[in-house]
Amino acid sequence: MESMLAKGANAVAVLPAAPVFVRNNDVDHEYRQDSDLFYLTGFDEPGSVLLLLADEKKCVMFVRPRDPEREIWDGLRAGVDGVKSHYGADEAFKITELGDELPKLLANKKSLFFRLGRDRAFDDRVLDAIENARRRARLGFSWPTEIVDPGTVVHEMRLFKHTDDLEAMKRAAEITKEAHLRAMSATKPGMYEYEVEALLLETFRRGGSERPAYGSIVGSGANATVLHYRSNNKKMEATDLLLIDAGCEYGYYASDVTRTFPVGKKFSREQQAIYELVLEAHTASIAGTKVGATIEQVHKESVEVITAGLVRLGLLSGEVDKLIEDNAYKAFFMHRTSHWLGMDVHDVGSYYVDGKARELASGMVLTVEPGIYISKDNDKVGPEWRGIGVRIEDDILVSDEGPINLTVAIPSSVEDVLRACA
Ligand code: GLY
Ligand code: MN
Ligand code: MN
Repeated sequence: MESMLAKGANAVAVLPAAPVFVRNNDVDHEYRQDSDLFYLTGFDEPGSVLLLLADEKKCVMFVRPRDPEREIWDGLRAGVDGVKSHYGADEAFKITELGDELPKLLANKKSLFFRLGRDRAFDDRVLDAIENARRRARLGFSWPTEIVDPGTVVHEMRLFKHTDDLEAMKRAAEITKEAHLRAMSATKPGMYEYEVEALLLETFRRGGSERPAYGSIVGSGANATVLHYRSNNKKMEATDLLLIDAGCEYGYYASDVTRTFPVGKKFSREQQAIYELVLEAHTASIAGTKVGATIEQVHKESVEVITAGLVRLGLLSGEVDKLIEDNAYKAFFMHRTSHWLGMDVHDVGSYYVDGKARELASGMVLTVEPGIYISKDNDKVGPEWRGIGVRIEDDILVSDEGPINLTVAIPSSVEDVLRACA
């Protein structure tokens, strides 16, 4: 953050906490701090705002004040003194003082680093503070004349994972491994998808994970072909494949893993052929996850393998290059192969720089997750292929020594998967 707010920049950054969302009446949705604010402070309370003042090299925080009555209900608060002693604030105020203090803190600043559009109510408070400073122009005050998205700096920082970030990601991967292994060994015909989901969630929490990194997908049979399937309520049959896309969050860092395996502990010929093809694409894309390559190239590896394989299996016909050019593979593989992974499952950081696909660099983490999904209604293929869905997803750290698969310990070869299911 110091680099963004270089001395002389006459800049101020304003980063609010995530809003609290009411679920109903006096019950809120589970609270999770805004990732940027947590990244910069480690502070997880709602109702807080961080300000960074460049020239003064100062960190100012607005927080909920201590309140013995409220703390009986909602737990301890750090309070104004606590954020100074424990979270590195140089100065702190009660959040109720924001309206009075913000115009003073913005006055005479040139650049305001603030992300507009995320929380309209908070946007208004910031815009009011600017207006307030403007009104005092005749008294010699100036106001920020440029608003810059702090993501241009903070998200670039978050894109590159350092030792502590990777420690958390490795622990998330370890707990997620336990969960997938448990699901593989426990799944049996006649169980419901939600019973497997329950095992995953229990394993996450028991391992110290605060929460899943996203809603777990537990899709059997044709449900595996629904990319964001979330109902998880079907009874599983011996002939089904089960696709599990589930990862936990640990210390505010995500894992994101998909495995697919046969409920009846035996692949059909067609299921195995699709599985092996996805695995071939997965292996090729991981090998391509090198410093200097791009996410586009990683995707292209999977597209080429999958298109050639679909031709080999008779599910597509024609010239591979022409089929790729015509996007014919998209009837089976309709999503991208990778996204950044970090504090958010679809993490921040730009994918393009100056209009060009960005080169991978050491410290970035991305998923590799090719899949093939054959709709149960696809009458262009034989009935034995219909309703098969396979995705295999791992979390890859780009390094100077080559790709490091953070989730490699979760079985993915046919042999290893069948062994884990046995
Ligand atoms: N689990 C969400 C994704 O794979 O992108
Ligand atoms: Mn996933
Ligand atoms: Mn993913």
